[in-house]
Amino acid sequence: MDERILTLREKAKLNGEPILRDESYKLLLKTVREKKPLSILEVGVNVGLSGISMLLESPNAKLTGIEIDEEKVQIAKENYKLFGVEDRAKILIGDASEILPLLTGTYDFIFLDGPKGHYYEYSQHLLPCLNVGGTLFADNVLFRGYVNGKVKTPHRFNTTKNSMLNFLDAVTKTQGYSTVIHDIEDGVSITEKLK
Ligand SMILES: C[S@@+](CC[C@H](N)C(=O)[O-])C[C@H]1O[C@@H](n2cnc3c(N)ncnc32)[C@H](O)[C@@H]1O
Repeated sequence: MDERILTLREKAKLNGEPILRDESYKLLLKTVREKKPLSILEVGVNVGLSGISMLLESPNAKLTGIEIDEEKVQIAKENYKLFGVEDRAKILIGDASEILPLLTGTYDFIFLDGPKGHYYEYSQHLLPCLNVGGTLFADNVLFRGYVNGKVKTPHRFNTTKNSMLNFLDAVTKTQGYSTVIHDIEDGVSITEKLK
């Protein structure tokens, strides 16, 4: 694991950036290391730290990120340069709900880490653009323990919880895909496209 990234991750945590938690981050890197994807899509880039980490683990990969916050995009681009991956990474700036239906590419690896209430909607675009043998890695799928009933869902989070349940239904029940849910931190699901 790149020490410089770990330092930046610590700094980002202190700044309150919503970056991937430690165990989930290790699982992301392990999965990328095993799969060695050539094309990666990241929904929710933030300041670019997971994107850089995935590119360092898969040296021939190219990354497309989607991020709505222009300030974060500027920082992510600076971070890409710092790690010399700027030629392998591009960011589409805007709302993933508008960008995803327009995507024409297909991907070996998708990291879904955007707004939690939209995972089901996004999955309808993401599953078809996964290459056969490809992987959809989604963070926060147990959303604060509300999704698996470990924690009682406050009324205001019912819509997000239901969207997440619909997402998990889609990735576990759609034919041709196989999904494992990891009960670590905020919950991670790893879906493979089988055929
Ligand atoms: C959890 S953070 C991503 C962290 C990043 N994947 C990492 O691990 O370093 C989620 C990001 O999604 C972005 N986001 C929120 N709503 C979005 C939307 N509708 N479309 C695209 N990006 C969005 C936020 O600005 C935020 O930077």
